[in-house]
Amino acid sequence: MVTLFEQAEARERHAALVKAIRHHDALYYQEDTPEISDAAYDRLRQDLEALEKAYPELVTADSPTQTVGAQGSSGFKKVRHAVPMLSLSNAFDDQDIHDFSERIAKFLSLASSTIIEMAAEPKIDGLSCSLRYEGGQLVLATTRGDGAEGEDITHNVRTISDVPQILQGTPPAVLEVRGEVYMRRDEFRALNERQEQAGKPPFANPRNAAAGSVRQLDSKITAERPLHFFGYALGEVSEEIATTQWGIRKALSSYGFVEAEPARLCASVDEVLQYYRDIEAARASLSYEIDGVVYKINRLDWQERLGFVSRAPRWAIAHKFPAEKAITVINGIDIQVGRTGALTPVARLEPIAVGGVVVSNATLHNADEIERKDIRVGDHVVIQRAGDVIPQVVEVLLDKRKANTPRYIFPDHCPVCGSQAVREDGEVVVRCTGGLICDAQAVERLKHFVSRLAFDIEGLGDKIIQEFWTEKIVRMPGDIFRLADLNAGLEKPLQQREGWGEKSVEKLFRAIEARRTIGFERFIYALGIRQVGEATAKKLASSYKDLDELRRAMALACDHEGDAWQDLLNIEDIGPSVAEDIVSFFHEPHNQTILDDLQRLLTITPYSIPQDSDSAVAGKTVVFTGTLSLMGRNEAKTRAEQLGAKVASAVSQKTDYVIAGVDAGSKLTKARELGVKVLSEEEWLALIG
Ligand code: IVH
Repeated sequence: MVTLFEQAEARERHAALVKAIRHHDALYYQEDTPEISDAAYDRLRQDLEALEKAYPELVTADSPTQTVGAQGSSGFKKVRHAVPMLSLSNAFDDQDIHDFSERIAKFLSLASSTIIEMAAEPKIDGLSCSLRYEGGQLVLATTRGDGAEGEDITHNVRTISDVPQILQGTPPAVLEVRGEVYMRRDEFRALNERQEQAGKPPFANPRNAAAGSVRQLDSKITAERPLHFFGYALGEVSEEIATTQWGIRKALSSYGFVEAEPARLCASVDEVLQYYRDIEAARASLSYEIDGVVYKINRLDWQERLGFVSRAPRWAIAHKFPAEKAITVINGIDIQVGRTGALTPVARLEPIAVGGVVVSNATLHNADEIERKDIRVGDHVVIQRAGDVIPQVVEVLLDKRKANTPRYIFPDHCPVCGSQAVREDGEVVVRCTGGLICDAQAVERLKHFVSRLAFDIEGLGDKIIQEFWTEKIVRMPGDIFRLADLNAGLEKPLQQREGWGEKSVEKLFRAIEARRTIGFERFIYALGIRQVGEATAKKLASSYKDLDELRRAMALACDHEGDAWQDLLNIEDIGPSVAEDIVSFFHEPHNQTILDDLQRLLTITPYSIPQDSDSAVAGKTVVFTGTLSLMGRNEAKTRAEQLGAKVASAVSQKTDYVIAGVDAGSKLTKARELGVKVLSEEEWLALIG
């Protein structure tokens, strides 16, 4: 029997522990200046857990035992999304929307008279969030993160009144709702006034304010911030809740969500464009900020067939409002050297606010662009900023130019290593020829190696990589995975350096250890091979079993007459120029040393084909040829890939099936010659079910 006295005492102790943990959390996570050792911190948490076990009535939703579970290094637990969280592709003018509609019709092989209905709604400028309900109860809320993995922000999201804790009506057993957390304009202004009165810096815009509020370790702070939520799409669902996008909106409303208004169901491109103009006119009177509108194909069976391209659905598009503009002065032009040696000019601007954000740099793209616009240091220019895109110089105000302002001369030497910079035939970029001796390229390659879509090592940002390079701590990728040992041997280990503490060093080492095992496709991407982005890296990973096989094949592919070279070219979307870049990367002795080193240090896991690996065509190589009539060429390819097949561009001994449409030509002949199985479109569909 617990006495009242004991209970009161427990309550007091609970409050004290919570306060202490919050205090140390803030020092650790927000200021990076911990005062106590890890062990002492862990003891506090253990004490709190034990106390809550004995007195379960003391557990509150925002207790540290609930707020930060297993701690990621940012303080939030990482969670894999059941269904990836996508972003949207952008359209900037009417033509882009006509193109979008035509692409859809082509992909689905629709007759020109078919009406394509689209749900049109505002594009809210906030941060995307996924809410998971099980049995009608909110169990998890996550940020988008990199789309595959986000952060657990459940406790903060629970404080948002628009987010139902319990759904109304009869929702499916599992329902994931995707939507936007945002702050209203008037509330944003009021918040900034409070910030200023409290002597704290104001937020730049409502989106930053919303993001900052949601990523608070203390959900009490979040609770004090005026946040809202609009639901606009679904993640995992155990049961269909609608057959159209419009139906999803209705269903979500019936469960208790707020839907962004005004929205409109449109039956043609003209109608969505009318919607765009209406919203643009009404923009200023909306209570929240929007940066455009979104159109979504209404039929969900079509959405399903359309699927997505890398990070965005084919069935939706964001139609952005024109960028915001401002006039300022160019104080200087700097040249940045990228990881492949490309020299990119950047204008250093007299800082100026554009659409609520202070801008001090703008990209000048390349030498041609500077020449075409005749941009000079000292010029007054019009700059524009659209969404997250880097600001650009759109116009030079010639009448404001002082006489004798010299023309800008693009450098012919690398500003970092001094090597010659050249422009290859047909290319727009000027490149440093320093290759391996160029420090800038080496550092950029390392930054790429640890970046989000590559090794994704938290806490190893650009500044730290630069510092490690300059201090000669990290000189090649493998050094990152030797960092703990290297550090122990340093005269002045990181722990004793300015800006570092025991905890932050340990945190970094933990983040590095967590990435010692990596997927083959991420690994390939991380190498930073010229022209090999995420999509090509995936194709390579699915075409070659492992790194050994890839290396062997690339060594053989130096011979352009051989099969290995042909196999590489047979991979969909890999043309001669990309193939050449890949082969030369693996040929380079320095890169071979790097690869040997990494192979010793890492566990590289095979690429797993995401879907349906038990389908009849999994692992088979197929080639489509001729005109397909039951689905568009892209749909056919995409579907085959989803089923685990590899789609190749040319017929070879390795081809399992050739799917021949009308007017199939030389590929069909070749297939017959080689005895490769040829299927009609109908036979193919029957095979894949
Ligand atoms: S739909 C699978 N609808 O814009 C489709 N997104 O720029 C996912 N956004 O990541 C998005 N308003 O965070 C959708 N009405 C709306 C939206 C919206 C804002 C955000 C969302 C997305 C980003 C892409």
